[in-house]
Amino acid sequence: MEQKKRIFSGIQPSGDLTLGSYMGAIRNWVALQEEYDCLYCIVDMHAITVRQVPADLRRRSLEQLAQYIACGLDPEKNIMFIQSHVPQHAELAWVLGCYTQFGELSRMTQFKQKSQQHADNITAGLFTYPVLMAADILLYQADLVPVGEDQKQHVELCRDIATRFNFSFSDTFTLPEPFIPKLGARIMSLGNPENKMSKSDPDGCVYLMDKPEDIMRKFKRAVTDCETAVRFDRENKPGISNLLTIYCAATGKTLEDAEAEFKDQGYGVFKPAVGEAVVELVRPIREEAARLLSDKAYLESIYKQGAERASALANKTLRKVYKKVGFVAR
Ligand code: TYM
Repeated sequence: MEQKKRIFSGIQPSGDLTLGSYMGAIRNWVALQEEYDCLYCIVDMHAITVRQVPADLRRRSLEQLAQYIACGLDPEKNIMFIQSHVPQHAELAWVLGCYTQFGELSRMTQFKQKSQQHADNITAGLFTYPVLMAADILLYQADLVPVGEDQKQHVELCRDIATRFNFSFSDTFTLPEPFIPKLGARIMSLGNPENKMSKSDPDGCVYLMDKPEDIMRKFKRAVTDCETAVRFDRENKPGISNLLTIYCAATGKTLEDAEAEFKDQGYGVFKPAVGEAVVELVRPIREEAARLLSDKAYLESIYKQGAERASALANKTLRKVYKKVGFVAR
């Protein structure tokens, strides 16, 4: 039988899971799980590149695992684990950092944005963040990395690092491709549709665990424009275009169908309709995650087994790398 291709992806437990992460990434993870051999990680080591409250980070890491499963990821089919449980990530990151240029890291958009947001705490970890991400992907020889638009640049850098390493030694790493959805790759903030929806902006952000009334309130207050037409035009109508994208991603309808549906209706009808579609989309996820969270022993068994399986795979790559760069075998 032909070997299945491999997927790796991860999300930082630096905030609760958002509708953006769901539409940009997790939905595709669920869709691809039959066809690929998949590893899904809770990247807690990435999360500490900006300050975290330790107790919150610990709680959210576990909640994130429950939410992965509640979104439809099958723990029997996929390897799900916590990044800090597999020490090979940090080990490979060190080696790859020695094959990454300072200039390359300086050009990363996310670094530039985050170092502005956290101007009083620009750590070396924030700067080398994409190297750790490259290690995540390359350790497992991943073919495909399903992510939202904002992570494309990091996956491209990962390919550049892998190409350089393969060229310096011999073929060691599989070159990964980003997998970015056509619809939902960049969900914007409800409060400021010029910005990406992000976990650190509670008003503009819908969390998968939000209660229905909170979701409805956020959509009713969503910033739009002073026209009345429900029409997709990203340039001139970013708020409405974002809501149309969310509506279509939530219902499976096409943009044309959605525009036709609300043709003779104003924003007062459209905005709550988007809210309701999202409430229905996330309701089963929220309920299932709450149920799973009451069974800590089950979650523990998943992440422990996940770390063991991931570590065995990671070890194979790391041994090869250590040998190639000239380290003495243990
Ligand atoms: P993170 O935690 O910021 O986001 C997780 C995933 O959700 C996507 N995403 C979005 N997609 C559409 N619209 C949005 N508003 C939106 N916000 C977030 C992100 O693109 C991402 O796919 N560096 C990564 C985590 C990571 C990783 C990896 C990913 C670490 N190692 C290895 C893939 C492979 C990050 O910060 O994602």
